[in-house]
Order: sequence, then structure tokens, then C-alpha cells
Amino acid sequence: MSPTGAFIFNEKTALPGLNGKFGIVTGSSRGMGLVMAKLLVECGASVVINGRNNDEVDYAVSAINADRAGAALGFTGDTAEFKQVRQLFIKTREWSGGRIDFLINNAGFPIDEQLWETPLHQFDDEQIQKGFAQVSQIDLVGARYCSREALRCMVEQKSGCIVFISSTPALTGHHGTPYTEAKAAILGLMRDIACTYAPEQIRANALALGNIRSGWYNNLSQKEKNALALESPAKRWGLQREVAGTVAFLVSDLAGYINGQTIVVDGGKVIR
Ligand SMILES: NC(=O)c1ccc[n+]([C@@H]2O[C@H](COP(=O)([O-])OP(=O)(O)OC[C@H]3O[C@@H](n4cnc5c(N)ncnc54)[C@H](OP(=O)(O)O)[C@@H]3O)[C@@H](O)[C@H]2O)c1
Repeated sequence: MSPTGAFIFNEKTALPGLNGKFGIVTGSSRGMGLVMAKLLVECGASVVINGRNNDEVDYAVSAINADRAGAALGFTGDTAEFKQVRQLFIKTREWSGGRIDFLINNAGFPIDEQLWETPLHQFDDEQIQKGFAQVSQIDLVGARYCSREALRCMVEQKSGCIVFISSTPALTGHHGTPYTEAKAAILGLMRDIACTYAPEQIRANALALGNIRSGWYNNLSQKEKNALALESPAKRWGLQREVAGTVAFLVSDLAGYINGQTIVVDGGKVIR
């Protein structure tokens, strides 16, 4: 057991293909992204922690490096700005000796009650431009910028893995059109990358998540928490570690022939 109580990488926790690999988890200064980064490190990988708040990035990096020195590098920057994304990849490659083995496109626009609850016909002219653009700039455009930079490196290497974090509304529809649109669009981007780059031995997959107990859970009333738990036939919220486990599996060699897929992590509400 480590000083921070985390489970530490050893030959039992290693997943084939993760030991010694380098990658980036966007939006990993807190929430699910941080849990993904920690689990990838536990499984033997080294990870770049990213977010727009420098203090949060530093705190996350220190926590990981306390368990395994040098396993994390911090990069404070906005994935929706392509110049900052380019710097993210330059710094990562300086650190990793040129490699980018995986990219997890996790950064997402926070839950916004107004954008979530407003039906399309009620958006006014300003909202229909601004509201949709805000969500799509982070969830879709940011993932596109990061994927382009990652692919430039992965094509040279002839290997790599990209995972997109989507959501069940992208598959079923829900209420909250800006979010549903952006999360569905990244599935199209993922599929295009999967078929275009498979000959280079680069894989792209996505997760479609149900209600996961990350930051937004804490802002809900007990009544809302209970109601959202009942949306899943498992009658509970998903755990961040359960999402991270699926990501680690997809990045590992155990998933070496899985490409172009969307894995639903929702306790069984959406069954296809
Ligand atoms: N939790 C759920 O139930 C659920 C369900 C379906 C899908 N998802 C998806 O899962 C992902 C993670 O969700 P979460 O609940 O863990 O979110 P969260 O707690 O709000 O954390 C989001 C992370 O992304 C960072 N971030 C946001 N915008 C960014 C940007 N433009 N550039 C760089 N970093 C950025 C945040 O840091 P800063 O704000 O400081 O930049 C933070 O580290 C999101 O894509 C979300 O849409 C979540």
C-alpha cells in the first residue's frame, strides 16, 4: 500500500502492453479523468495530467508521483485551443522520448442545467449559437485537435490507441441537445479514425457512460441521486473506477483486436 492509500503497480497489477507506455488523459486534474490516470499508472503506464487550473493539475501530479515517482507530468492548458494542444503534445513527447502510446479524450463541458433541460425549440438566437458552440468546442473540437496531434505521432510509430469518452444519450437520445449532439459526433470521429488508421495498427474506441459518481453527484439532492440511480437496472450509480477499468482494458494489449467500438458502461440500461 502506498502513502496515499493507492494500490501500486507490480507484476500482479500490470496489464499486458501498459508497462512502460506513455499517454495523455485530457481533463484529468479531477473527476473521472484523474481516476483513469491513476489506474493507468497503477497498471504500469506513465500519464500526462491535463486541465485548465494549474493548482489542480499540480495537486493531481504530486499525488500520483508520491506513489510512483516520475509517473505523471502536468500540463495546464485548454484542449479547445489548438495552439495549447500542440504544446501539450510537444511537452509530452519531450518527456516520453517521442512516444505517444495512448490518448484518452475525456475533457468535457460541465453539466449545465439550462443547456441540459432546454428543448431545442426554446433556444433563443444567442443560445442556439453560444450554448451549442460551448459544449461542442470542448467535447468535440477539443477531442479532434488532440486526436490530430496524437495521430501524427502514432502514424510514425505505427501503433497507438485513442479512447473517446461519450455518453449514453449519444446512442439513445435524451434531453439536452447540445450535449447529445457533441457526444454523438465524437462517435463518428472515432469510427472514421478506427477505419482510416487500422492499417497503421492504431485503434480508436469509445465509452458511452451512464450516470457515474463523479463531481456532479455531489451537487445533487438525495432525492435526485436516488432517482438517477434507479435509471439503471443495476439500481446504482457507476463508480469512476469501473469506468477507468474499461479504459485501461481498451488501452492494453488484451484489447488489441477491438477497434471502432462503443462500449456502454451503464449497468445495463442500454442493451444493444
Ligand atoms: N459523470 C458522468 O455521469 C458522465 C456521464 C457520461 C459522460 N461523462 C463524460 O465523462 C467525462 C468526464 O466527466 P467528469 O464527470 O469526470 O467531469 P468533471 O468532474 O467536470 O471533470 C472534468 C475535467 O475536465 C477538465 N476540463 C474541462 N474542460 C477542459 C478543457 N477545455 N481543457 C482541458 N481540460 C478541461 C476539468 O478541469 P478544468 O475545468 O479545470 O479545466 C476536469 O479536470 C466528460 O467528458 C463527461 O462529459 C460523464
